Amino acid sequence: MTSLAVTSSTAASLHVDCLVIGVARSRGGPVLPPGTDTVNEAFGGTLAQVVGRLGMTGAEGEILKLPSPAGFVADIVLAVGLGDAAVEGGYTSEALRRAAGVAARALAGTGRAAVMLPVGTVETAEAVALGGLLGSYAFSAHRAPVDGRNPVGELVIRTTGETLDDVTEGVRRGAVIGQEVNRARDLVNMPANHLTPETFAATVQAVGEEYGTDVEVLDEKALAEHSYGGILGVGQGSVRKPRLVRIGHTHPAARTTLAFVGKGITYDSGGISLKPVGFNEIMKRDMSGAAAVFASVVTASRLGLPVNITGWLPLAENMPSGSATRPGDVLRMYGGRTVEVRNTDAEGRLVLADAMVRAGEDGPDAIVDVATLTAAMKTALGHRTFGVMSDDDAFREHVVGAAARAGEQAWAMPLPAELRESLSTSVADIANTGERMGGGLVAGLFLKEFVPPGIPWAHLDIAGPAYHEGAPYGYTPEGGTGSGVRTLVQLAEDATAEAPPRSRTGE
Ligand code: BES
Ligand code: MN
Ligand code: ZN
Repeated sequence: MTSLAVTSSTAASLHVDCLVIGVARSRGGPVLPPGTDTVNEAFGGTLAQVVGRLGMTGAEGEILKLPSPAGFVADIVLAVGLGDAAVEGGYTSEALRRAAGVAARALAGTGRAAVMLPVGTVETAEAVALGGLLGSYAFSAHRAPVDGRNPVGELVIRTTGETLDDVTEGVRRGAVIGQEVNRARDLVNMPANHLTPETFAATVQAVGEEYGTDVEVLDEKALAEHSYGGILGVGQGSVRKPRLVRIGHTHPAARTTLAFVGKGITYDSGGISLKPVGFNEIMKRDMSGAAAVFASVVTASRLGLPVNITGWLPLAENMPSGSATRPGDVLRMYGGRTVEVRNTDAEGRLVLADAMVRAGEDGPDAIVDVATLTAAMKTALGHRTFGVMSDDDAFREHVVGAAARAGEQAWAMPLPAELRESLSTSVADIANTGERMGGGLVAGLFLKEFVPPGIPWAHLDIAGPAYHEGAPYGYTPEGGTGSGVRTLVQLAEDATAEAPPRSRTGE
């Protein structure tokens, strides 16, 4: 794994293999951001012209490798595009994260590199550290290292500011968040024969011990004892038995308690309503919500955020077998309500419903669930944007805003009341599927029924962005992305500053 360090040394004396500099785009051609003066001088003050002549415009995603000027310890200068030149001096955190991520990917196989992007504050340092760690990610658990393509060994972040204090703090935060997003990615990428409800729960337990977070695991016997009919109903077709994991971070100065609930289907075959070939190869990712919740709680704990968070991970494998739930079966959910399972492939909402009812018993100030819930949301919003639903407009906008501040693409989606009727059934309190059009919203309406009254709730459908199937870009690799982690961490940070979210009953 890539390590991070900070320095204020001059470019020429840095004992590294490569120096990374940013190049921004302007009307007049590529321009150099602050902090690159000494490198530019060593190129005779013509570095911007040189990279321009070699074809660089400064656009996001561009890279160019140059031999270092004489007198430098480093052999190579790696120029990376920052996008449009900052008008008022500062670059956005996202521009810095992406440039650092692109650089880190281009540095695969390098031992040690100095990153001379414009960094002088906590925020900019965090962005570069985070982008660098996320960009250097590789899922290597089941592969011999490809020669020369190991992740960059160390990124040394050079400050352009007055002191190292802010940069050190920013890098510390970026390192924790980056490591935890990468932990979520590892879990998502882990094949379903390696990650089962049982091994996932054991991982949470081990990590909880490492960081002093409180973990409780309910196994299949405990689930039956407490009548978790949704989780048991989904898991009963598999020989790999379901679990419900609770991971709690508490802080003595906390004023707010959040509950995060993550869908944890370690493999979704569809069950008896089996998915066809073409749709079942990609379903190891169906525990991405649980991975995001887990990683966000560990992040809050490692950062010592003054907020209480309980993460709930309902974990199950959705398989067809002689013991599987059939279409038409009725499940009695945790809390006593009944659900007619019309389609066993609409399993995520069943495990989430149990966990949300349980989460509500502790009376949190808000509940946020995260799930790879519907193909319909992927169709609606594409591969990079997750949908945010809530019956509380203010809370939904708060969550969409938190995602934007965290650098994740999110969009508010409605919960149209007229679609609720399609979930009605004469044999149970509710059915698990209804109208096909607007299927992502119908799923949200189903979940809404299981939100304890008076608690603000938001639902994040990350079916699109949880897993990236194309070529890497910015700091996003192929495979698991860790979608949702940074938004949840931002919500936790927001909750350290504010009064608890307004309750719906008080309106
Ligand atoms: N896990 C899937 C949704 C999914 C699809 C996530 C593609 C990521 C990529 C979910 O359990 C599912 O199967 N949903 C069904 C619901 C339908 C049966 C109402 C769907 O979206 O087709
Ligand atoms: Mn499914
Ligand atoms: Zn699923």
